Amino acid sequence: MEGDKATGAHCRDVSKTYRRATGATPALDGVDIDLQPATVTALVGPSGSGKSSLLRIVAGLDKPDRGTVVVGDIDIARLSERSRRRFRRARIGYVFQRPSDNLISYLTVMEHMDLAARVRGASHEGSVEILERLGIAARGDNHPHQLSGGEQQRLAFGLAAIGSPSLVIADEPTAELDHESGAALMGLVTSLARMGTSVVIATHDPEVARFADVRVTLDEGKVVP
Ligand SMILES: Nc1ncnc2c1ncn2[C@@H]1O[C@H](COP(=O)(O)OP(=O)(O)OP(=O)(O)O)[C@@H](O)[C@H]1O
Ligand SMILES: [Mg+2]
Repeated sequence: MEGDKATGAHCRDVSKTYRRATGATPALDGVDIDLQPATVTALVGPSGSGKSSLLRIVAGLDKPDRGTVVVGDIDIARLSERSRRRFRRARIGYVFQRPSDNLISYLTVMEHMDLAARVRGASHEGSVEILERLGIAARGDNHPHQLSGGEQQRLAFGLAAIGSPSLVIADEPTAELDHESGAALMGLVTSLARMGTSVVIATHDPEVARFADVRVTLDEGKVVP
């Protein structure tokens, strides 16, 4: 696991067009991106430029029409659906853009964390520490509908981060956070990167973009050189 961590994630010539009966929407056009280990990459660009589409493909949640995505030493497009799901759970932390998409309505905050910790071989103490760092430890017994949008978003990030996976992918994780909670989340990002995790964050938040080690800009589905 440690060995694979050292290779990050790499996309080559990734293209994607959403096709429906009503027409085709091009989203990504020949994207190359390297997400290095121990590095925080900010993915920026206007609304509709393809950030979420690219993140879903890097995570193996969606398949590109063309191109390759290698995470660690694994070409994830070549895995079967089942292997890809298993690989993703163990090795990739993902935060969806909509906070509620990350959570299960009948689990409490602590149950969410303990479940994720078990999958990643992390401890209950590790879960508690992450909740404390994110300022939501007092919410351990609450269910998602009892949390504010920002608290949901912090929990979602904690779930992605537990066990320090090879790759953490977060789609606008600070969109609903105030300055202090945003700073706490970025503190956790720094710790993750120090442990070798490659972190990529799609964001419209200039503070997050400044904080990142590397910035990649998308415009109309292409990387701006
Ligand atoms: N499931 C889908 N079906 C059809 N079109 C889609 C789908 N998802 C995204 N698109 C289209 O693909 C393009 C890229 O969308 P995407 O969500 O990747 O942009 P984004 O950069 O994440 O935008 P935002 O900053 O608003 O989150 C847009 O034109 C969008 O309308
Ligand atoms: Mg998006």
